[in-house]
Amino acid sequence: MNTNPYLPELATVEEIVEETPDTKTFRAVFSDTALRQDFSYEPGQFQEVSVFGVGESTFCLTSTPTRPGMVEFAVKKVGQVTTALHEMSLGETVGIRGPFGNWFPYERFKDHRLLFIGGGIGMAPLRSLLNFCLDNRSDYAEIDIIYGGRSPDDLCFRSEFDAWRSAPDTNLYLTVDKGDDNWKGNVGFVPAYLVDLAPTPENTIAITCGPPVMIKFVLQNLEKLGFAAEQIYTTLEMKMKCGIGKCGRCNIGEKFVCIDGPVFSYAELQQLPPEF
Ligand SMILES: Cc1cc2nc3c(=O)[nH]c(=O)nc-3n(C[C@H](O)[C@H](O)[C@H](O)COP(=O)(O)OP(=O)(O)OC[C@H]3O[C@@H](n4cnc5c(N)ncnc54)[C@H](O)[C@@H]3O)c2cc1C
Ligand code: FES
Repeated sequence: MNTNPYLPELATVEEIVEETPDTKTFRAVFSDTALRQDFSYEPGQFQEVSVFGVGESTFCLTSTPTRPGMVEFAVKKVGQVTTALHEMSLGETVGIRGPFGNWFPYERFKDHRLLFIGGGIGMAPLRSLLNFCLDNRSDYAEIDIIYGGRSPDDLCFRSEFDAWRSAPDTNLYLTVDKGDDNWKGNVGFVPAYLVDLAPTPENTIAITCGPPVMIKFVLQNLEKLGFAAEQIYTTLEMKMKCGIGKCGRCNIGEKFVCIDGPVFSYAELQQLPPEF
């Protein structure tokens, strides 16, 4: 294993899932066979993925450490590196640096109800924690998942919905901005659906990630429902370069999102300058 944090490990793409028209999930296996089992990470951490000859980009680990031997990351096509990843075929090689950043404090979440609130590709970091909690189901009370997308085709991780629904004491609530003839879930924005469902704040931890506008109104509505800032967690996606606190690319005030985050409680965010 590399000790130089700037040197990527090589990994082979062994599975690609087309989640939505613009998002794919990649499963990669390290070329170093020892690293396949030894690579340890926590739900909420991120990695830097390089496409050789193109560049490097930041992606959260969407797989869970409870299912070792590979890493998964979901990629929304927005620019150069993400387009190059979308053009990759099975068997091609990527570089991976990491894992970096902090993670969801799942020890603190034990015995609490968990409320996951995701929008679009924002479900990627939540999926890691969600599957981690489902693999340690008895450590947590009821789990509610509110997940929304622009349309039914824009929802990621659809192949796992049945597993999430059928887990003990676990409910999946789906919503889309615009349905189609086959859509049986809710139609409406995630923050409004949250208010309709009105989950209790009692002994509950809310974890949210999605487009900034969704997060803004989810935070407001959670407060209206009686959630304290200490009960709410989110994960930030400031632009990054080094991932290890050296380049100064990702700072908010005195905090570096790559080492002090990307996971923050709402109480912590309220202490930061409003730059995100
Ligand atoms: C901690 C963290 C976790 C992330 N996790 C994921 C993930 O799981 N899946 C995923 O698809 N993306 C994730 N991102 C965002 C991802 O890193 C960027 O979309 C990616 O770097 C774009 O690379 P590119 O070369 O394709 O785009 P570029 O060609 O560099 O840029 C294309 C456009 O995207 C904008 N852009 C680039 N990076 C960001 C960013 N971080 N935030 C907002 N706009 C940006 C640029 O300004 C430009 O307009 C994450 C970012 C961070 C910091
Ligand atoms: S990405 Fe370089 S300091 Fe955070």
